[in-house]
Amino acid sequence: MIEVNITVNGEARTAEVPPETTLLTLLRDWGLTGTKLGCDEGDCGACTVLLDGMSVNGCLVLAGRANGCSVSTVEGLSVDGRLHPLQEAFEQHASLQCGFCGPGILMSAKELLDANPSASKSEIRIALSGNLCRCTGYVKIIDAVAEAGAKMAAHGGQSNG
Ligand code: FES
Ligand code: FES
Repeated sequence: MIEVNITVNGEARTAEVPPETTLLTLLRDWGLTGTKLGCDEGDCGACTVLLDGMSVNGCLVLAGRANGCSVSTVEGLSVDGRLHPLQEAFEQHASLQCGFCGPGILMSAKELLDANPSASKSEIRIALSGNLCRCTGYVKIIDAVAEAGAKMAAHGGQSNG
């Protein structure tokens, strides 16, 4: 067993896990089941979280690799009950159908907009290219990310406020 200490959505957490435990498994064991297990081999992006601000596939990252790091999951997007602009835009555009891909897409989009809220639609498509959606045609997803980015840019890049 190995001990891992990870700050998840601003909260320090500790666990003892077998060394082969993935970050995705640990997060879900902690009750953070917003992050989904899809393919379990790095293809679908349903497990996307931010590791020290960088998007990773949680199914491919060992929990031990995240020791000492900060992880952001979809559960941390809203702040004090206020939805993140991405969440608001996805709701307004009815961007998702079954929603399984949503948490991963939101986190990939957050990584992009945190760096560049004025990202173009082609830049958004590239940023989301690792996130597969079986239901939608992606159009409403891209539209929502662009709209959220415009809102964030108008607020100086701030995601809430
Ligand atoms: Fe990790 Fe599909 S579950 S990429
Ligand atoms: Fe169903 Fe994307 S909304 S997989």
